[in-house]
Amino acid sequence: MREVLARLEQASGLDAVGERAQRSVWAVLRSQRIRDLLHGVWLGHPLHPVMVQVPVGAWTSAAVLDLMPGQRRAATTLVAVGTASALPAAVAGWNDWASLSTEQRRVGLVHAAANIVGVTLYAGSLTARLAGRHGAGRLLAFLGLASAGGGAYLGGHLAYKQAAQVNHSVTEMHRLPEDWRAVADLDQIPEGSLVRRTVEDVDVVVYRDGPDVTVLLDRCAHLSGPLSEGEVTKVDGQACVVCPWHGSTFRLDNGEVVHGPAATDQQILPTRVSDGVLEARLP
Ligand code: FES
Repeated sequence: MREVLARLEQASGLDAVGERAQRSVWAVLRSQRIRDLLHGVWLGHPLHPVMVQVPVGAWTSAAVLDLMPGQRRAATTLVAVGTASALPAAVAGWNDWASLSTEQRRVGLVHAAANIVGVTLYAGSLTARLAGRHGAGRLLAFLGLASAGGGAYLGGHLAYKQAAQVNHSVTEMHRLPEDWRAVADLDQIPEGSLVRRTVEDVDVVVYRDGPDVTVLLDRCAHLSGPLSEGEVTKVDGQACVVCPWHGSTFRLDNGEVVHGPAATDQQILPTRVSDGVLEARLP
């Protein structure tokens, strides 16, 4: 399987389809507010993995009931719940997918295709059950479960091997010192601009706003973009940094994510000034 998955990651033949799908997603999901809602900015975690629990749970439970006598009605209800709930979960998934890297999008396309086949089979299963053809309904549901299971496997590869929609800056935390370390002379930090410095070997962004100085990890939580090369903007009167790669936006005073595709906050570091030198350390 590792070899198959490695080939899938390098399958550039999928890119033309991927680019068309990406344009379609952005054309449909134009509203920043809706995109943020679907990314899970309000939740502090990606929304898609939460939403898929409903169809996966309903379909798996339906499969168990299909193996038991006298459970037709309950199984049909669960197939209906799973099929209906798959749609919003898919919309959230496509929204995340459109801002992934090229290799991640290739795997994500096949993940989506397997799930589309699964949902189609479950829709057929529901239609057959409602028409009283429970044998055909069960068969279509088991085929749908197999296809959705393949899709879930690829979803696991996306999350755990390719690190899609996980916090890419958290590993930097493991390399930070517990003791205070010098970052920069305070009087050399310009006001209102992003300055890149290091704490030990970890890149950080320093931002000064009057007497307030913030130190954030430089590696964007979404996909490791360099925040120090981003732009400073105001959102609701708050100074924010916009990532140069996919536009995730974080407040500069506390690291809170304001706009996705990142769904987690950007880590800020504790600071102090000692003899005119700005210092930071592990929180
Ligand atoms: S790396 Fe994607 S928004 Fe920063």
